[in-house]
Amino acid sequence: MLGSTPCNSLLITPIFTTLLIILLYPSNAQLSSTFYSSTCPSVSSIVRSVVQQALQSDSRIGASLTRLHFHDCFVNGCDGSILLDQGVNITLSEKNATPNNNSARGFDVVDNIKTSVENSCPGVVSCADILALAAQASVALAGGPSWNVLVGRRDGVMANQSGANASIPTPFESLAIISAKFAAVGLNITDLVALSGAHTFGRAQCRFFNQRLFNFSGTGSPDPTLSSTYLATLQQNCPQNGSGTTLNNLDPSSADAFDSNYFKNLLNNKGLLQSDQELFSTNGSATISIVNNFATNQTAFFEAFAQSMINMGNVSPLTGNQGEIRSNCRKVNGS
Ligand code: HEM
Ligand SMILES: *[C@@H]1O[C@H](CO)[C@@H](O)[C@H](O)[C@H]1NC(C)=O
Ligand SMILES: *[C@@H]1O[C@H](CO)[C@@H](O)[C@H](O)[C@H]1NC(C)=O
Ligand SMILES: *[C@@H]1O[C@H](CO)[C@@H](O)[C@H](O)[C@H]1NC(C)=O
Ligand SMILES: *[C@@H]1O[C@H](CO)[C@@H](O)[C@H](O)[C@H]1NC(C)=O
Ligand SMILES: *[C@@H]1O[C@H](CO)[C@@H](O)[C@H](O)[C@H]1NC(C)=O
Ligand SMILES: *[C@@H]1O[C@H](CO)[C@@H](O)[C@H](O)[C@H]1NC(C)=O
Ligand SMILES: *[C@@H]1O[C@H](CO)[C@@H](O)[C@H](O)[C@H]1NC(C)=O
Ligand SMILES: *[C@@H]1O[C@H](CO)[C@@H](O)[C@H](O)[C@H]1NC(C)=O
Ligand SMILES: *[C@@H]1O[C@H](CO)[C@@H](O)[C@H](O)[C@H]1NC(C)=O
Repeated sequence: MLGSTPCNSLLITPIFTTLLIILLYPSNAQLSSTFYSSTCPSVSSIVRSVVQQALQSDSRIGASLTRLHFHDCFVNGCDGSILLDQGVNITLSEKNATPNNNSARGFDVVDNIKTSVENSCPGVVSCADILALAAQASVALAGGPSWNVLVGRRDGVMANQSGANASIPTPFESLAIISAKFAAVGLNITDLVALSGAHTFGRAQCRFFNQRLFNFSGTGSPDPTLSSTYLATLQQNCPQNGSGTTLNNLDPSSADAFDSNYFKNLLNNKGLLQSDQELFSTNGSATISIVNNFATNQTAFFEAFAQSMINMGNVSPLTGNQGEIRSNCRKVNGS
């Protein structure tokens, strides 16, 4: 009898074990680049065309959308939770958490993307995947790398405001703390340096770096790791007692282009945020050689950025029958 040969049981056992693992851990299901190839084959180009249209009237929007994906993934995984409005079912939204309140933007464009995607493929594409696809389109449209976005995420039904307060790095923290927040979601310092390169485009409000400009850490002087010429410019744009909401380019040398200038700036002490400059100016840090590499080799940066975006996009997605496909990115279905 074939069924009783040791050869066959050797074959059956691993198959059975694999099945058992799949049944026991549905959350370990993999995302895939072809998840929508039969149910919504043009989803990437739909997302891209809405982003492209939004860029016509707002050159910053690609940066804002890229940041939304980051802030989504760092809180309960990439589950679209940042998009949920505070309301009946969401008592404390992530939108209103400290790192996002009066800062995260692009929610209206996400709605436009969702509407456009629903028109072609109703009820199929998650809001969490829309954020991942919009980030890729935004980077590519700004001259950065393209990569195959892994999709198949489903949308969460809850928000975690305290989680957003605690897990999203702030620009005032040390490199050690920021590295620990990346490590907490499985990202290492190569990911940290590469992903920080997203600050090659977009804007930051004075309130996120003006602690560096006049009396840094109670020293009575500006941050010594800030270039004196850049300091003078920033002091003018963000005067003491001035508005904390005035906008500044994160990359003064090429504001809206996705390139390696962010890293070249760090070599010249022209990182805007304390958390940016720390990557290069923390004595003895393993991040320094990575910054040097990305500053001198844009190809190395682009390849690492694409890989790290995939790594970040893989943070605890909901898959299979977990969560839902929201019909409105701002609300849990039926609420
Ligand atoms: C490493 C820790 C990080 C810190 C402390 C940080 C902090 C910040 C801050 C304070 C701003 C300015 C927000 C405002 O003025 O309203 C900002 C903007 C931005 N961040 Fe980060 N960030 C970090 C990592 C990342 C990552 C990993 C990405 C994406 C991969 C990212 C993408 C962006 C983009 C594109 C902007 C500009 C957004 C816009 O113009 O609307 N950041 N970040
Ligand atoms: C919304 O929340 C209420 C109470 O908090 C709950 O009874 C209801 O089931 C929730 N609805 C959905 C669709 O989650
Ligand atoms: C968010 O900002 C608004 C001001 O625009 C403020 O009234 C509100 O208290 C802030 N929310 C939180 C949770 O800090
Ligand atoms: C998040 O932080 C803000 C500012 O400290 C605070 O007002 C808010 O209550 C916090 N949210 C939660 C749920 O802890
Ligand atoms: C909220 O986020 C925190 C920190 O990321 C996490 O420890 C906590 O388990 C989350 N809460 C829920 C209910 O998911
Ligand atoms: C970070 O992880 C990647 C794999 O995703 C690996 O190639 C890289 O060497 C790691 N970096 C460090 C500093 O360990
Ligand atoms: C800088 O801040 C420290 C601590 O807050 C304070 O004691 C000191 O007087 C300030 N120095 C100046 C020049 O404002
Ligand atoms: C800023 O405001 C404080 C308190 O109102 C005042 O003492 C200080 O002189 C002001 N500084 C400048 C540069 O206007
Ligand atoms: C880092 O090293 C430089 C040069 O050795 C030194 O001037 C600086 O004070 C050090 N910075 C810190 C924060 O230790
Ligand atoms: C730049 O980085 C790429 C990708 O890592 C590598 O293949 C290439 O050899 C590097 N170029 C130089 C000049 O070091």
